[in-house]
Amino acid sequence: MIGTKICEMLGIKYPVLQGGMAWIADGELAAAVSNAGGLGIIAGGNRSADELIEEIRKCKNLTDKPFGVNIMLMMPNAEEIIDVCLDEEVPVVTTGAGNPGKYISAFKEKGIKVIPVVASDALAKRMERIGCDAVIAEGMEAGGHIGKLTTMVLIPAIVKAVSIPVIAAGGIAIGEQAAAAFALGAEGIQMGTRFLAAKECNIHPKYKEKVLKARFNQVTVTGVTTGHPVRLVENKLTRKFEELEFSGAPKEELEELGRGKLRLAAEQGDIEWGSIMAGQVVGYVNKEETVEEIIKDVMEGAQKVISALCERFNG
Ligand SMILES: Cc1cc2nc3c(=O)[nH]c(=O)nc-3n(C[C@H](O)[C@H](O)[C@H](O)COP(=O)(O)O)c2cc1C
Repeated sequence: MIGTKICEMLGIKYPVLQGGMAWIADGELAAAVSNAGGLGIIAGGNRSADELIEEIRKCKNLTDKPFGVNIMLMMPNAEEIIDVCLDEEVPVVTTGAGNPGKYISAFKEKGIKVIPVVASDALAKRMERIGCDAVIAEGMEAGGHIGKLTTMVLIPAIVKAVSIPVIAAGGIAIGEQAAAAFALGAEGIQMGTRFLAAKECNIHPKYKEKVLKARFNQVTVTGVTTGHPVRLVENKLTRKFEELEFSGAPKEELEELGRGKLRLAAEQGDIEWGSIMAGQVVGYVNKEETVEEIIKDVMEGAQKVISALCERFNG
């Protein structure tokens, strides 16, 4: 079975991370992923400090394995969320939307691994320089907020740019894609969309159903004109957004339309006016499975592809 530097660094069996997903990734999902041998990550982006403490304690009660918290650094309460991670001695933090530089020494003192999400080689280099332990390189096939480069282009660029381990994210849901990520030089993979369909994922059933039924061509991107592109499944919200974007509506109006919409879909199940964030891989996600089945399927699939390739090329 594939073991990598990331497994060693994080103390996990499989080099598989479950991406932090605001309004979705709770202590239960994270614990299930960690118990299955991956690294579960609790979303910190949408929670108050007290709510995060609750999810962390839930996770600790359900697993004795390492897990992580995703911190969105641009959130107004980011400092409080960071304090919670320090106090609770969360084993790993992944960060997005900002520079974790000024918190690195505090994390290091507690032995907490810091892994930022990056979408360019320049940013990956900066993260290595400030002392981050690894980076998650996320290509634009991913669900949610995205950058400009595809996983196929981004991963080797970052692998060549830094010497810390690189975890590939965006467009990975099946063994073939995981094998491709390892071939591109990644030491691990992070999946979001595939875990949306996990039995342990406490998302609104209507959101889950929409993910299970969505076809590849039903995924679109809104917000390119505002500079905050988001990948999600088409519905009334995305059509309204496109209409406004093409008619040259002011940025503020577009941002107002997008506000609070992930919560609307994920918690309240409004699949017409809520934001059903999901990646291009959504067409591969057709059945509800346990986290354990998902990880096994992807890792065994990757192993098979790699063995078949070795045989094919070595004769
Ligand atoms: C519904 C949803 C919400 C997400 N929210 C966050 C978030 O709060 N913070 C973050 O760093 N990434 C977020 N992401 C990105 C995931 O953590 C992960 O990197 C991404 O889903 C990987 O690509 P994939 O969708 O192709 O698997 C989100 C993704 C989805 C699908």
